[in-house]
Amino acid sequence: MQFIDLATRVARLRGSLEARIGAVLDHGQYILGPEVAELEQRLAAYVGVKHCVGMSSGTDTLLVALMALGIGRGDEVVTVPYTWISTAEVVALLGAKPVFVDIHPQTWNLNPDLLEAAITPRTKAILPVGIYGQPPDMDAINAIAARHGLPVIEDAAQSFGACYHGRRSCGLSLIGSTSFFPSKPLGGFGDGGALFTDDDALSEKFRQIRVHGQARKHHHPLLGINGRLDTLQAAMLLAAFEQFPDEVRLRQEIGARYDQGLKSSHVPGLTLPHVASGCTSVYAQYTVLSPERDALQARLQAAGIPSVAYYAVPLHLQPVFGALGHQRGDFPVTERVASQCLSLPMSAYVSEEDQRAVVAALSRADEPHRA
Ligand SMILES: Cc1ncc(COP(=O)(O)O)c(C=O)c1O
Repeated sequence: MQFIDLATRVARLRGSLEARIGAVLDHGQYILGPEVAELEQRLAAYVGVKHCVGMSSGTDTLLVALMALGIGRGDEVVTVPYTWISTAEVVALLGAKPVFVDIHPQTWNLNPDLLEAAITPRTKAILPVGIYGQPPDMDAINAIAARHGLPVIEDAAQSFGACYHGRRSCGLSLIGSTSFFPSKPLGGFGDGGALFTDDDALSEKFRQIRVHGQARKHHHPLLGINGRLDTLQAAMLLAAFEQFPDEVRLRQEIGARYDQGLKSSHVPGLTLPHVASGCTSVYAQYTVLSPERDALQARLQAAGIPSVAYYAVPLHLQPVFGALGHQRGDFPVTERVASQCLSLPMSAYVSEEDQRAVVAALSRADEPHRA
């Protein structure tokens, strides 16, 4: 069994992928060719915002968003310690300080009740994450941000395609950021990402920073990076995007089937993912919690089933952030979730048979004598 079944997806998309690649080879505009603009228009319409700017990764999108907001040395950006390293890495790369807020015990996303206490006069932005595919509580976060005049960037690398009270992830605050890393819900075939906003001036800055801060040929008013999305990547994403609504539906069916199977199997101590009322999840990962995580993982492995402890070590305990001075105990919900998390095989193409095998292996895990 695969942890993420990319091969079935490629088999399904192969014809349209090859046609799209062929078209790029024919026109030969490999850098910012017409497919980049076409993808940007399609994705902006899907999310329901004015602007989408395609970029080289879901890390560079976050970096460019912070650069466009002018964030740098001495500034603070409030985010969560329970996320992939990119979210806080980009803050530190600009010389600013990531300020962590603990996660909500049910959704595992930023806990808005703890947000206000983390805001200081140095805070310049709030950067919540839609962990495992469910958007954070953006209304609550936006309301607090508005009171303090702060911009909100939604790190939707995992939640692209999910909804929050009828609106799509990436269109829920001033800036939305996503990733097209192959394992992501709208996975590409290499690295890629995109920024979303309704703000004309910001989108223009994103476009300039993406090309070395260039406003027009040989004129660079801003400091920038090489952050472009490849034409070939955009072309393949256009092919993949045709199937995306169907893949979102499949992911949700698979998530619901895991829920049902695991609920009725009564694995002791198991916590299933909680999707808040008014939200959907695209299950970038289907992640459960268990105090017996390591034993469950060993049992899955013995049954030939891959699983991953995303994210076993939270960011405040990562050596690279040692200078922030955090210690164990600082973010108790994050630490409990990190010590218990286990992500199960997930993609739009997990078969019912494979799901039954996963549930069966997990429900036997507390009975080693039956091995
Ligand atoms: C929450 C989160 N933020 C940012 C990223 C960075 O995306 P990328 O790998 O495209 O740089 C990822 C994906 O790895 C992620 O899961």
